[in-house]
Formats: sequence, C-alpha cells, structure tokens
Amino acid sequence: ETKKYLGIKHDDLKLSVNAIRVLERRYLLKGENGNPVETPSEMFERVANSVSSIDKRYGYNPYDSKAEFYRMMSNLEFLPNSPTLMNAGTELGQLSACFVLPVEDSMKDIFEALTNMSLIHKSGGGTGFSFSKLRPNGDIVKSTKGVASGPVSFMSIFDQATEVIKQGGKRRGANMGILRIDHPDIIEFINSKEKEGYLDNFNISVGVTDEFMKAVQSDSKYDLINPRTGKTTEKLRARDIFDLITTMAWRTGDPGMIFLDEINRRHPVSHVRTIESTNPCGEVPLLPYESCNLGSINLSKMVKNDTINWEKLKNNTHSGIHFLDNVIDANKYPLNEIDRETKNNRKIGLGVMGLAEMFAKLNIPYNSEEAIETAENIMKFINEESVKKSVELGEKRGSFPNFKGSQWEKKYSSMRNATVNTIAPTGTISIIANTSSGIEPIFALSFVRNVMATQLLEVNPVFENVAKERNFYSKDLMMDISKTGSIQNLKQVPKDVRDLFVTSLDIDPEWHVRMQAAFQKYVDNSVSKTVNLPEKATLDDVKRIYMMAYKLNCKGITIYRYGSKENQVLELGGLK
Ligand code: CDP
Repeated sequence: ETKKYLGIKHDDLKLSVNAIRVLERRYLLKGENGNPVETPSEMFERVANSVSSIDKRYGYNPYDSKAEFYRMMSNLEFLPNSPTLMNAGTELGQLSACFVLPVEDSMKDIFEALTNMSLIHKSGGGTGFSFSKLRPNGDIVKSTKGVASGPVSFMSIFDQATEVIKQGGKRRGANMGILRIDHPDIIEFINSKEKEGYLDNFNISVGVTDEFMKAVQSDSKYDLINPRTGKTTEKLRARDIFDLITTMAWRTGDPGMIFLDEINRRHPVSHVRTIESTNPCGEVPLLPYESCNLGSINLSKMVKNDTINWEKLKNNTHSGIHFLDNVIDANKYPLNEIDRETKNNRKIGLGVMGLAEMFAKLNIPYNSEEAIETAENIMKFINEESVKKSVELGEKRGSFPNFKGSQWEKKYSSMRNATVNTIAPTGTISIIANTSSGIEPIFALSFVRNVMATQLLEVNPVFENVAKERNFYSKDLMMDISKTGSIQNLKQVPKDVRDLFVTSLDIDPEWHVRMQAAFQKYVDNSVSKTVNLPEKATLDDVKRIYMMAYKLNCKGITIYRYGSKENQVLELGGLK
C-alpha cells in the first residue's frame, strides 16, 4: 500500500520518506476503506484551488494565484499550518491552528468554554485559555452556599475532555493554560504539572506583569488579588514565587512565563481589548474568540550560491501574505463568535522554518554574532515586505474593521491585517518540508528513528552532504554521532565543520534567548522557541534565562532541560 503512493507524483515533488509517511497517515484525504484518495501533489492542488478561489470575490482572476500558491507549496518553499493542508476544500473546511477562548467565572460559562474547546479540537485546532477570572479555590459560591474549587481543578476537566476527543484522530488536542501571577491560586497552578501525566494536554504559563518582574529585581512583595472581589488577599515575596516558577521549570519544563505588559504594549489593536492569553505553543497572543492562520517560509530554500536570495524571499513573502489573508475568508469557523472576531482583526502569521539549515548553507554557526545579525536582517526584511503587501491588499480589498484607532492607522492609510508575522514551531510542516523546525538549532545531526519495530538511521541532509564532500562520511561514524546527536567530541571531524554544525544542546542557552529576541524585534505576534538545556543545567541557569528573556523584550519564555520528562518528544541515544 505504501508503495502504491510512492508513485511518480511523489517523485515529482521530491518528498522525503518521512514526509510521505506523515502525509499518508494524516493529511491526504481518505476514502471509506481508509486508504488515501489523493496524492501529495493533488493535496497541494486542492489547497491552492480552495484558497485562490477567494480572489474571485474581490474581482480578481484566481488563475494566477492558484498557480503561484501551488508552486510555492509543491516546491516546499512555503507551507500553511496543518489544518489548512488537511481541510482546505473539504466539507469541514476549518483552516486555523490557533484559537483563544474566554473563561468567565460562572458554571455556565466554564462549561460553554469546554464545549467550544471540543468543537475546535475536533476540527484540528488548538486552544488557549486564561483562567485568571475564575474565583480561587475555597472562595464562596452564593447560589449553593458551597465553596469554589478554583482554576486548577477546572483545568483538569479541560485536560480530560481533550484526552477523549483527540482531534478527530488526526492530531492530539493541544492547550495553553494561563494564570496571572496575582491570582490567589498561583502556587497551586505553578506546581500543577509536577505529577507526570497530570494536565498532559496543557502547556502552562504564568502571566507576569512588569510590576512583578520589578518586584523580583528589587526583592519586594506584591499583592494577590481575588478576581471576584478585586480585593487583596495576601502579599507574597516576588523572589519566592520566581524561585518556585524556575524550580518547577527546571524539574518539568513547566510553567513558562508570558510577559503580559510587553504583549499588550505591542498589540496593534490594543484599543479594542486587553490580551490575556496565547495559543497552545505561545506564538500567537489573541483576544477571546480570535483565531489565527499561520504559514511558514522555508529559509533553507532561500539560499543561492551560498548567499540569501532576497528576491525569492520577497516573492514568497508577498504570496504568503496573500495566501494567508485568503485563508481567513476560505475558512469555515467552528463558532459564529470566532467568525466575527477573527474577521474584525484579520490576524495572520507568516513566519519561517529551516533557519538552522539556512545558517549551515551560509556557513554561519548558530551561536555567533553573525547569526544574530543575519536573523535580524531577515526578519526585518520579511516584516517590511509583509506590511507592504498587507497595505496593498488593504487598498484593494479594504482594511480590517478595527483599523480605525489601531497602531497601524498612525502610519498607513490602509492595512488588511492587524498582525502579519509569527514564528510557529512548525512541528509537522517542517517534517513535510524536510528541514529544521522553526528557528530552532538542529537537534541532532544523526539519530535513530523507531518506525514500526525497525530502527532507521537518519542523518541531517545538509551535514551528510558536507561529510561526503569533505571525505569523512562513514556509516559507522554516523552511528556513533547518533548516540549524542553531536560532533563536538569527535576529533575525526574537521574543526570548522564542528564549529558550524552545533546542535541545540551544544550551544550556550544564552544564544537560544538572543535568537528568540532577534526575531521578536520584528515579529508583531510572538515567537515559538524552546530554550533547550543540557541535563546538567542548574537552577541558576534557568533563573538567568527567564530574567534575560524579560530584559531582551521577549513576549514569553519556555525552557526544556533534557531528561526532565520520562516521555520526551526528541530523544537521543543511538540504537537500543
Ligand atoms: O507544523 P504544524 O502546522 O502542524 O503546527 P505547529 O507549527 O507545530 O503548531 C502551530 C500551532 O498549531 C500550535 O501552536 C497549536 O496552536 C496548534 N497545534 C495543535 O492544536 N495540535 C497539535 N497537535 C499541534 C499544533
């Protein structure tokens, strides 16, 4: 069966074996017997067709954009987020990856949010929630004269529902849970993921304020406030809570932090409402009922003769913005409120993947000043071109309805989208494009993948080329490398190659944060980045990183210390 779909059309597209496997399992439309009824190129055609057809509504011939959208996807130069690939042109037609739902402080509202979450997960989207409005554990409930159980216990209901739904079998449901630093249940929240397996379908982040971060720096106290009464319940020493957050993050990877004031300062439609939450992986701060469509340019394909091909990058940026703006109209939303709020701001998030592979091709080590500078130049360029395109679309098709009073109005006479850029994790689409994910360093230069009882050795393709060109390639060496993923201790590999091919765990964590900050400077939404730490990293390392992210004006921070969870997504260790 696999063979059947490894036919000519696959070869046309030069897809990797892993890409084909992922597409067959979850992306290609299936018939009644469960077998795919389309090839990957037919999938791209379906998506290009559906998304370009929107041009007709605005009086344009969709023929040109269809060809262009097909070209950039089938060349793996640009890919939209997974739900767009899976659902465009189908009856379900839900195309967004990211949603934020409000959770108000009443039984009816909490369970309404739960129902809405289930509809979104079923359609392939992920959900973020702020639980900050819920009254704390032990607070009074007037109608029943009982006591409230608090945000953390309600979160566990959302978690269990997620477990049961499993996103229509295509994706596991993903959630973000946020609680403000001044909520009376904050300690229970920070500790909530200590037990492995509890709240497994949630990433959690503490929503911190400038006031709190300053209290940490000056070693002073801050107030906990009951959201129901608005009254101070207690004063805590900020450093104690900061220590608790970083200790738990050191132990389990959770919680992260999001910097609420920085997010709202830079929110282009701050006149509409205050942002309290992000989507599951943190890269899109959203208002209640907003959704966002993401797409990523494969930077590894933007290199020609060892330099960046700026013209190609510009074309893909313009087409990417056009594509994502069309997605807003092509989308079938799971709720009327989501349809309305999404179209009021028309937020989109064009970003990048394959950064680390691009650096390798350009001969720039990820942990170098040149890398940081290059990252800033690239993102600045993408942002400027994205805005140009959105202004042009605004002139032709109208500005987003909340444009008046927005930060854009000060600079431009029209703008189609309230936000244009996001750096997504690109967890799956980077596998389809066969490149490094998002802006992350390469995780391992070679590793062993367990596939249905067999173990396959996979070598990073850019590294493999260099190893062959420089004559140090051997199967034995690649096997050796797969034990740690790294070549830093292998003297048989030339020094300049070792310096260039640094992995996620090889580099000082500071470089991770600086790279995130470099992108954040020119990204109007947020940046997905995991600061990967070696197992031996200390608690002070984690504290330093969390503080550094704040000082460098990041919108959030997430770390992961290798080995701190039993079931890790990315595992080293060679053949077992
Ligand atoms: O690569 P892909 O388009 O599949 O997704 P991603 O870039 O790794 O993740 C983008 C967003 O998709 C996440 O922040 C979530 O909002 C959502 N997502 C989800 O709902 N469920 C998953 N299993 C993975 C991602």
